[in-house]
Amino acid sequence: MSDVKKVFIKSYGCQMNVYDAKRMADVLRPEGYVEVETADDADLVVLNTCHIREKAAEKVYSELGRLRELKGERASRGQDTSIVVAGCVAQAEGAEITRRAPVVDLVVGPQSYHHLPGLIARSRSGEKVVETEFPADDKFDHLPAAPRAVTRARGVSAFLTVQEGCDKFCTFCVVPYTRGAEMSRPVVKILAEAEQLADAGVRELTLIGQNVNAYHGEGPDGRTWTLGLLLERLAQISGVARLRYTTSHPRDMDASLIAAHRDLPALMPYLHLPVQSGSDRILAAMNRQHDSDEYRRIIDRVRAARPDIALSSDFIVGFPGETDADFEDTMRLVRDIGFASAYSFKYSPRPGTPAADRDDQLPEAVKSERLAVLQAELDDSRRAFNRATVGLVTDILVERQGRHPGQMAGKSPYLQAVQFEADGVAIGDTITVEITETGPNSLFGRPVGALSTPTRERMGAL
Ligand code: SAH
Ligand code: SF4
Ligand code: F3S
Repeated sequence: MSDVKKVFIKSYGCQMNVYDAKRMADVLRPEGYVEVETADDADLVVLNTCHIREKAAEKVYSELGRLRELKGERASRGQDTSIVVAGCVAQAEGAEITRRAPVVDLVVGPQSYHHLPGLIARSRSGEKVVETEFPADDKFDHLPAAPRAVTRARGVSAFLTVQEGCDKFCTFCVVPYTRGAEMSRPVVKILAEAEQLADAGVRELTLIGQNVNAYHGEGPDGRTWTLGLLLERLAQISGVARLRYTTSHPRDMDASLIAAHRDLPALMPYLHLPVQSGSDRILAAMNRQHDSDEYRRIIDRVRAARPDIALSSDFIVGFPGETDADFEDTMRLVRDIGFASAYSFKYSPRPGTPAADRDDQLPEAVKSERLAVLQAELDDSRRAFNRATVGLVTDILVERQGRHPGQMAGKSPYLQAVQFEADGVAIGDTITVEITETGPNSLFGRPVGALSTPTRERMGAL
């Protein structure tokens, strides 16, 4: 290709943005763009943004300040730079972005990025382009597959979007507004993408969606398939050793999905199931559509199906009106369940959401104090889980070289990062390791012979 152009894509926020960034590169590749690692010598810079909390959204504007300088420097050398804001801030703020940051040439929402080549062409002729409609055409039908070598270079673990959008309207959350209504991709399209990924060397597929377990896609038999059924079919693809999915909603943990955790060896024993709060009053005010007992019962059923499952969750502290007693309910739930990992956040009022209009917002200091208390408990819980895996013989999917020569690194079934010394082990191999030690950020292991006892029996209930 004679006319090679360089594109730098920077993603913020969730896994969906990570996936979208790769697909944006796939759309731009046939136009002659190659991906580069920094903005410095890029002809096109795409910020793939997140609107979930105020801090995430504000990051974009500080980045745009830096890009303004860069664009000026490049212009003084006679080089053009196009600046694109994509993702959820683009969807939420639209033309406001080009008003606040005139350096931006193009604003494109998460459902329109398949039109990037045409939109870039329009912006090059001097127009400020803002494309935030939810178009009638399905972007997935317009995204070219990445060449095999590109997929291979992206690693052995890949995300695959199966569901997008949300109809649940939790009172704190912007996602239903930024990503639009819930939609599920048809099974045949997902299978084709999964097979192409497996063929290029991907060994672990993580199915993603804002509410991935609300999946209800059209099956090849004309019936509506659940996520459980989809996972069962994906497990049959040769080369796919591991399956995961995220993020799920408690309301949609149906029997077929719980059964999949019992029946599918390829489905990893890990479940990220956000609860947000342990207080029934706050859960109702958040419009989560379940109470804390229902959450506990779901966890009991999942653990009955797969006793060693590692549990993870999301929490919000300082939702409007949250009392000390409400917060204590959250702490009790955390202590009762014993999460292997978790994300926790201070409530951030978001424009256009019902909770932001409430007049019982909590002071920042209260939110900070509760977050520190919660995070200390979640940290203890994570360390306890990791300690319980010391001595365990389990399989590791090898993902990359470790920090030191001769060291390799990969993930356990429980999504723990594990480092170990080994000769003759290749990226993409699954090897058997005994976990020997826990470190601050990862575990250490020692390769052993064949698995004598299957992981799930050794672990029992964690
Ligand atoms: N669909 C997922 C969550 C997607 S957003 C679910 O239903 O759980 C990821 C996480 O960000 C949420 O689980 C929540 O913990 C957090 N979050 C969302 N909106 C927030 C806000 N306004 N303030 C603080 N945290 C928020
Ligand atoms: Fe947001 Fe709730 Fe939808 Fe999750 S389920 S994306 S928290 S509105
Ligand atoms: Fe952020 Fe949008 Fe994901 S708001 S969390 S990037 S869906």
